[in-house]
Amino acid sequence: MTHPSISDIQSLARAAGKILRDGYETDHDVQLKGVIDLVTEIDHKSEKFLIEEIRQRWPSSRFVAEESGESGSGELTWYIDPLDGTVNYAHGVPLFCVSIACAWDGQTRLGAVYDPMRDELFSAERGRGAQVNARPLKVTRVAALEKSLLVTGFPYNTWTAKVNNLEFFGRFARQTQGVRRLGSAALDLCYVAAGRFDGYWELSLQPWDLAAGGLIAEEAGARVTNLQGGDDYLSPPPSVLAAGSELHKKMLGVLEL
Ligand code: IPD
Ligand code: CA
Repeated sequence: MTHPSISDIQSLARAAGKILRDGYETDHDVQLKGVIDLVTEIDHKSEKFLIEEIRQRWPSSRFVAEESGESGSGELTWYIDPLDGTVNYAHGVPLFCVSIACAWDGQTRLGAVYDPMRDELFSAERGRGAQVNARPLKVTRVAALEKSLLVTGFPYNTWTAKVNNLEFFGRFARQTQGVRRLGSAALDLCYVAAGRFDGYWELSLQPWDLAAGGLIAEEAGARVTNLQGGDDYLSPPPSVLAAGSELHKKMLGVLEL
């Protein structure tokens, strides 16, 4: 079987992103998956489109997708977040994207994250660097916490979970130039790749939130690990810490419980 190429995954992301853009200023059918975990009809439409399209072109495919879970089997594994930033989307905040990654032989090989509102297509192929549209991406070399701007997110169990990131947020807020919360893990990782943020951390994520953005950040020179510093940030329970290597070390120190 011919493996997909970077331009294949870029086209898929652009096409699904168009579904998000076209649906953006319409009324949504918002359902609850948990107390504060939302899903709209557009999440489902984008995911259905991607899975059908991919299955047709690469029949030997297994999917790990946010709305339909695990399905299919075969040589390729696709991690799909059809709409990352659903809460923003449902509230009309223009910060969201589609995130697609493809893995084979035990490694994520291709990733694409598309923000249709800014027309920014972030993508990477393992070993070949990362880009936004045609521009190469590079993380910052900021090494000191006091010179850094960070980003994070909060899990949907923040109301009830004992470890809910509020403690870490407080620590970083007191030691950096600021901490932002955009509401899209995939864009957070791409913004680190682009040098817009110096570092990102988050706990309780899922592989579809991380696979594409993680590869893009790594290919832009970031050290990407879980919160314990382990390389396998997609293994359960996924968590992530992404930054240039010097800042990564400092952030790991702050993240000790
Ligand atoms: C969420 C976003 C958010 C992060 C949450 C994710 P969704 O994904 O990436 O930034 O803080 O943990 O679940 O639900 O919008 O696809
Ligand atoms: Ca999603």
